[in-house]
Parts: sequence; structure tokens; C-alpha cells
Amino acid sequence: MDATDGPAIHKLGADDAIAGLALSTEAHWNQTEEDWRIFLRDGIVFGIRDGLRLVATAALLPYSGNNAWISMVLVSGTHRRRGLATRLVDACLETARKNGLTSWLDATPDGAAVYGPLGFTPTLQLRRLKLVRPGRAEAPPSSSATIDALRARDRRATGLDRTALLEAFAQRSGSRIVSAHGAIALVRDGRTARHIGPLFADNAAAALAQVHAITRSETGPLLIDAIASQSAFLDGLTASGWTIERPFQRMRFGPATTAAEELPFAVAGPEFG
Ligand SMILES: CC(C)(COP(=O)(O)OP(=O)(O)OC[C@H]1O[C@@H](n2cnc3c(N)ncnc32)[C@H](O)[C@@H]1OP(=O)(O)O)[C@@H](O)C(=O)NCCC(=O)NCCS
Repeated sequence: MDATDGPAIHKLGADDAIAGLALSTEAHWNQTEEDWRIFLRDGIVFGIRDGLRLVATAALLPYSGNNAWISMVLVSGTHRRRGLATRLVDACLETARKNGLTSWLDATPDGAAVYGPLGFTPTLQLRRLKLVRPGRAEAPPSSSATIDALRARDRRATGLDRTALLEAFAQRSGSRIVSAHGAIALVRDGRTARHIGPLFADNAAAALAQVHAITRSETGPLLIDAIASQSAFLDGLTASGWTIERPFQRMRFGPATTAAEELPFAVAGPEFG
């Protein structure tokens, strides 16, 4: 199919947050309306409608240093295998190309089947883990961690300045930044589970201690998107009741750009990197 064939591609706006949320909810994803608002405000979201109904999306979120994150690639079950995701990701790539941006994404196995043929190359692997029943809801660990400390650590580990994103997360009422013994993490609300990430630590033991301190003060289900090569961390999580839900494959389109100084233990989420 030629890129110009098929239904029109629209640039979505703030009014499309609820329709976007319907698509991510249909896919059982964890994003909230506030997450959609980040993409619609700070990024470019392309969409395809069938009549009035939004049936497919893809978002490009620019980051510092000529990087961009592609995510929210979603096609309603009623409209799959018609080339819609391919066309929308192509639209993102075209925008990235015009702006000289290297594009990154964290692909589900279904998504990787779409992105490989488009020319994305695999980089590192992630594992999404879930803890259904955390501990006894003790008081949250006391922490003097600040957004500045999180931002600085995030920059060291990703090579990106993600001040706007991290501040948007931190300002939400359900969010907290926790830090102890060389580890720092952000916890935020999701649609069905709270999300731990990003998480940075000096070593796996510190990362695990941080997660355990968080889980002891949480009552509902939790998600974490761990870097797969942090194997001692992953082993520690699975030994303490976390289960691996699915893999994500990080992929890049364009030249390598970031110079990271340390590897995170968990990322902000596959939709944000
Ligand atoms: C992944 C998803 C976005 C694909 O949307 P789509 O519009 O059906 O994809 P396309 O029609 O553009 O597919 C292009 C090609 O990718 C491959 N592909 C797409 N979905 C596939 C799947 N489920 N299994 C295997 N290959 C697949 C095929 O080669 C397909 O070409 P073909 O239909 O000619 O065989 C859609 O299935 C979806 O929304 N899934 C749930 C959310 C998700 O995982 N999103 C990806 C996040 S990274």
C-alpha cells in the first residue's frame, strides 16, 4: 500500500485524550488520561479515524539531543492488519527525519513485527514485571529525595534531559520520589497498577532494597519495567513474588546519539523509555 492510500492521518489535539485512552485501555495498557495529555501537549500524536471514532494512533515525543521516543502505537482490534500502524509509524519517522531526530521505542512482540521491516534495529531488552499483592502498607519510607536528584540521575543513565517529563510525573498527586542507600526511584499512578520507574541504583542490592521499601508501603498492584541485563535485580524480584508479564525490545531508528554513563535498573515505562 502506498503511504498516501487509505484513510487520512490526522494530528491529534488535547480534545483527543479520552479517545486515546479508550484505545490504550482496549489493549489493557496502564496509561492514564494524564499520560495521554503529555503526548498530546509535548509531542506529536498522529491518528486515524473511522467516522468519528479514533481507531489508531502513534506518538512522537521529542527529547533532548536530537532524540525522540515513538509510542502509543495502537490499532483497535476491529482495524488491525490493514497497514494502519505501519502508516502511522511512517508518519512519525518522516517527522523525525525532517527534524533530524533519532527515534527510539520499546516494542511489544506484536509491535516488533511492525517495526523490524521499517528499519528499526534492536538494542537492549526489558522485562515488565507485576506484583499483585504488595505488603502490609506500612508508612512510606521517609526520603529527602528531590526532583533535581532524580533528573540528574536520569540524565546520567539515559543521556537525556527529561526535566519536563519527570516534573510532569512528580507533580501528580499520587506520585512520590524515594531514595535510600544510593538508589532513587519514582512511583506514580497508572490506570490499573502503580508504576515504579525510573529506578537508578549503585548496585542490584540497593535497587532491590528500594523496591522492597516501596512495596511495603503500597496496597495495590505494582508494575516495573526492568532492564533485562540487570539479572541479579530480576532474580531478586522474581524471588520475592514479582512475575514477568512480557518482554519489550528497545529499538532505534537512526544513528546512535546518547552517551549514557550508567544503566538504569528500571525505566520510566515503555511509552517513555
Ligand atoms: C501491533 C499493532 C499496533 C499492529 O497494528 P496493525 O495496524 O495491525 O499493523 P500493520 O497492519 O501495519 O502490520 C504491518 C505488518 O506487521 C506485522 N504484524 C502486525 N501485527 C502482527 C502480529 N500481531 N503478529 C505478527 N505480525 C504482525 C505483519 O507483517 C504486518 O503485515 P501483514 O499484515 O501484511 O502481514 C496492533 O496489533 C496493536 O495495536 N496491538 C496492541 C498494542 C501493541 O502491541 N502495540 C505496539 C506497541 S510497541
